[in-house]
Amino acid sequence: MAEQSGHRVIEPSVLYVGTPVYLVATRNPDGTANLAPASSHFALGRMIVLGLEEGGQSLDNVRAHPELTVSFPASHQWTHVESLAGVTGKDPVPAEKAGQYAFEPRKFERAGLTAIGSDLVGVPRVAEAPLQLEARVARITPGVAGVYGMVEAEVVRVHAAPEIVVEGTDHIDAEAWHPLLYAYRTFFDRGVEVGWTRKNPLAVPPADVERWEVAGGEWRVRSASATTATVELRRCDGGEVADVLTLTEPRDVRWARVQRAIEGVG
Ligand SMILES: Cc1cc2nc3c(=O)[nH]c(=O)nc-3n(C[C@H](O)[C@H](O)[C@H](O)COP(=O)(O)O)c2cc1C
Repeated sequence: MAEQSGHRVIEPSVLYVGTPVYLVATRNPDGTANLAPASSHFALGRMIVLGLEEGGQSLDNVRAHPELTVSFPASHQWTHVESLAGVTGKDPVPAEKAGQYAFEPRKFERAGLTAIGSDLVGVPRVAEAPLQLEARVARITPGVAGVYGMVEAEVVRVHAAPEIVVEGTDHIDAEAWHPLLYAYRTFFDRGVEVGWTRKNPLAVPPADVERWEVAGGEWRVRSASATTATVELRRCDGGEVADVLTLTEPRDVRWARVQRAIEGVG
């Protein structure tokens, strides 16, 4: 059905618009670890909220033992993830999964991944994953349709491979980090960077602008394209334009585009 906007009304089989994949490890009743691929989640502050399906072993496990780890694989590790796509830690396999899933009690071994002990929770992490979170479950809320549970967990420790950390800081190096993205049943690496938020630690004014501001002057980004930007330096008394800087350094241009976006693009 065509709409005024030219869009079509469609009934897609899934709504997986594109989310990083994670491997959630939980504790089985016998004390061994279960590991399952998932992608439904969001994080706000120190809390991470996972969407885990009812009838899966992972959700059963966190109901019994409220600890988990979330390991984010890199994009090139997708086959390890896919090796777990047809198995469940639940025995017997639930009726709705019969024929499509097999019981697998040794998920780490099957995926060719190494279980490494955690510092603060009694559930291992995936050693090979560049980013690993240890978390304690705070609340599990059943979803309205009864097909999933929302697991709210407090992240108590973060482990990052040195290659994805900006040296000398606790920041993840966004350029170096390549999560495995899952969109419409397809795995992707991320694309090239297209912009920053104003909170990006790299989004600082160019040195000349900073000096002007420290001296009490005002500035305004006059224009910014993909490759170049201009900044007016104005006097604090009356706002007369004292100079116009042309920025061409990619980092400075990105900063300028953030300033323009903050003012509104309409
Ligand atoms: C890429 C990918 C994404 C998935 N996302 C989720 C998800 O967000 N939540 C979920 O519960 N299951 C998700 N699954 C399905 C589970 O991994 C699958 O049902 C598995 O059997 C659960 O294992 P368990 O029963 O041992 O917990 C996903 C699977 C794949 C391969």
